[in-house]
Amino acid sequence: MPLLEGKKALVFGIDSVAYAPPRELENPFYDTTREGFHTALDISAYSLIAMARRASPLMQARGGGSMLTMTYMASERVMPKYNVMAVAKAALECSVRYLAHELGEHNIRVNAISAGPLNTLAARGVSGLTQIREQMNVVAPLRRNIEQSEVGDAALFLCSPLARAITGEILFVDAGYNIMGFGDTK
Ligand SMILES: NC(=O)c1ccc[n+]([C@@H]2O[C@H](COP(=O)([O-])OP(=O)(O)OC[C@H]3O[C@@H](n4cnc5c(N)ncnc54)[C@H](O)[C@@H]3O)[C@@H](O)[C@H]2O)c1
Repeated sequence: MPLLEGKKALVFGIDSVAYAPPRELENPFYDTTREGFHTALDISAYSLIAMARRASPLMQARGGGSMLTMTYMASERVMPKYNVMAVAKAALECSVRYLAHELGEHNIRVNAISAGPLNTLAARGVSGLTQIREQMNVVAPLRRNIEQSEVGDAALFLCSPLARAITGEILFVDAGYNIMGFGDTK
């Protein structure tokens, strides 16, 4: 999709795909199947590389572009029941850095948004979503959950020329939840 920067059109692509077989999000992590691991990593992490393979030649021909993907904090910290999807998100974030390194010389930026919990079809597959969302109201520095539009605003920023010197980054859009070690005890 082109964004206008003066007379020059920029191109961006957003990878917002994730899936793990339900059993892998219900059973203990140690019981992850090889097949479930392959599926989760294929759909939730390789998707970005697949997009990069196809989009980067088009972006290079246009003088550059921006790629964005969606991740979650469970890549770094244990969020029970996120299981193999957390491994997929860790691989996805690592892919962001490798792609940013390789594509930077073509003026192609690659970033990720690490969003707080939102009630979507994919998120409803993770048990405990309601409790995680409620916890945001208590623990997050802004004492609230996030809205979908706030993720959209951050995505627009990262894809726009305003973020022209930002690449390889994982930007948290989570009302500050990720900085906390422990919630307020008041
Ligand atoms: N909702 C949250 O709380 C949250 C938080 C952080 C990150 N994310 C990430 O945001 C991204 C979008 O998820 P969402 O929460 O908006 O849920 P969503 O259900 O709206 O989006 C997931 C999308 O993945 C697509 N998809 C699944 N399997 C596919 C396949 N095999 N091939 C092609 N497409 C496939 C679905 O059709 C759907 O459009 C995901 O990467 C998710 O992990 C979500």
